[in-house]
Amino acid sequence: MMRNNIVVRPMTKKYAPERVRILRQPSVINGVFMEQPVSVEKTELWCDSIIKSTVRTDFVFLEGEAVVGFSGLVNISHKNGTAEFYIFIDNDIQGKGCGRFITNWLLTFAKDELGLRKITLFVTAGNEAALSLYENIGFSLEGTLLKHSWFRGRYVDRLILSIFLDDVNNELNAYEYFHGGV
Ligand SMILES: CC(C)(COP(=O)(O)OP(=O)(O)OC[C@H]1O[C@@H](n2cnc3c(N)ncnc32)[C@H](O)[C@@H]1OP(=O)(O)O)[C@@H](O)C(=O)NCCC(=O)NCCS
Repeated sequence: MMRNNIVVRPMTKKYAPERVRILRQPSVINGVFMEQPVSVEKTELWCDSIIKSTVRTDFVFLEGEAVVGFSGLVNISHKNGTAEFYIFIDNDIQGKGCGRFITNWLLTFAKDELGLRKITLFVTAGNEAALSLYENIGFSLEGTLLKHSWFRGRYVDRLILSIFLDDVNNELNAYEYFHGGV
């Protein structure tokens, strides 16, 4: 399903409460490596700290006035042409095509605006929704870190997936999604 009415904004303090609301949802707590519990106050401080960062870029995605999810790139290296991808979608609208659209948008932005070459991500073994999204889009498994991370009460395997941006051709124009919205 296409999500043509999605609008992209840079992450700022204005969206801290919505980020916290979504990061408190059980499906997101189970999928995202974020220290819990989250708070609006700490998230606002984090927003201030990332404004000038050149090694990460963070976005909020809206449909009308509703925040649908958050995604971004961290550990951006212009020398290597690489970055790591993250994403989380509001639990109530998961499975409706937002994750696919947002991942495609970020890959196009990484290629056309940032001039990057390769995007990597880490996903916990067993996160089937995320794994099938990434495999559908064309990410490949590069390796598995066994019992690598302490996560929600146990050591979990972490899969490393990546995609070369030369292989991405989704005909999306990343610049068309900044206008509209609030
Ligand atoms: C993983 C996540 C980002 C996917 O976003 P989404 O909006 O739900 O996904 P979409 O509706 O765009 O679906 C795209 C593909 O993902 C897969 N998918 C989505 N939900 C799925 C589910 N519950 N089970 C299996 N596969 C699923 C399918 O392959 C789907 O393709 P299809 O529509 O052709 O079947 C979202 O579920 C999420 O935010 N989860 C919690 C946080 C998280 O785990 N983030 C990733 C950390 S690595």
